[in-house]
Amino acid sequence: MTKVKVEVENLKKYFYSGIFRKKVIKAVDGVSFEIKEGKTLGLVGESGCGKTTVGRTILRLIEPTEGKMLFDGEDITSLNGSKLKKLGREMQIIFQNPEASLNPRMKIYDSIAEPLRIHKICNKNEEKEVIFELIETVNLNEELLFRYPHELSGGQIQRVAIARILSLNPKFIVADEPTSMLDVSVQAQILNLLKDLQKKYAISYLFISHDLEVVEWMSDEIAIMRKGKIVEWK
Ligand SMILES: Nc1ncnc2c1ncn2[C@@H]1O[C@H](COP(=O)(O)OP(=O)(O)O)[C@@H](O)[C@H]1O
Ligand SMILES: [Mg+2]
Repeated sequence: MTKVKVEVENLKKYFYSGIFRKKVIKAVDGVSFEIKEGKTLGLVGESGCGKTTVGRTILRLIEPTEGKMLFDGEDITSLNGSKLKKLGREMQIIFQNPEASLNPRMKIYDSIAEPLRIHKICNKNEEKEVIFELIETVNLNEELLFRYPHELSGGQIQRVAIARILSLNPKFIVADEPTSMLDVSVQAQILNLLKDLQKKYAISYLFISHDLEVVEWMSDEIAIMRKGKIVEWK
């Protein structure tokens, strides 16, 4: 039996707006699922149905209104301090717009080095070797390390964004529409890279997209969302 990596139980996230905070947006309204080790759950649905909110809540980037999240069987819903910091390495996110995760004034080399330095993954002597290895793992040419983000294509930038998080040895990745800004030909390459990395490192994915065909290609199981709820499983 494959081990369960991530569990979400009756997750709710309500946003309140208006001057008296009386207007309620039920962005996520009672969502439950589990993702096994090395497997992908696809989350698909129209824009605004709550997909991103689910992903960001699991990663504790936003606080849930109600519900529970477990990682490796441990309740992480109200984790804090050093435990949350450790979890912050094992759980990562890939965004739709990778430029947003790279500093435009930093060379690619330093962007990849940044998480290594913050989390003290390796010492200065090893750093260069680790970075060259990471850039090779995502099939990019070493020359790109000394360029700036604006000199790279969308696909190359997404590979850099992936290299950055790989250095943290993530076990669970929320991929939030990771290829929807890319050309179709480039899309397939990035999706295949994500699949290869999953096999190599036993990564679990929550793969979010509005494109059912893409989700079908990537996922072991598919949950279809509508208005904050899962309305169908495939
Ligand atoms: N920070 C926020 N404040 C208020 N409303 C939000 C916020 N984030 C998302 N929403 C609303 O929650 C709903 C779900 O959004 P989102 O999770 O981004 O959907 P999706 O990723 O499926 O497009 C939308 O109605 C959106 O406007
Ligand atoms: Mg979204």
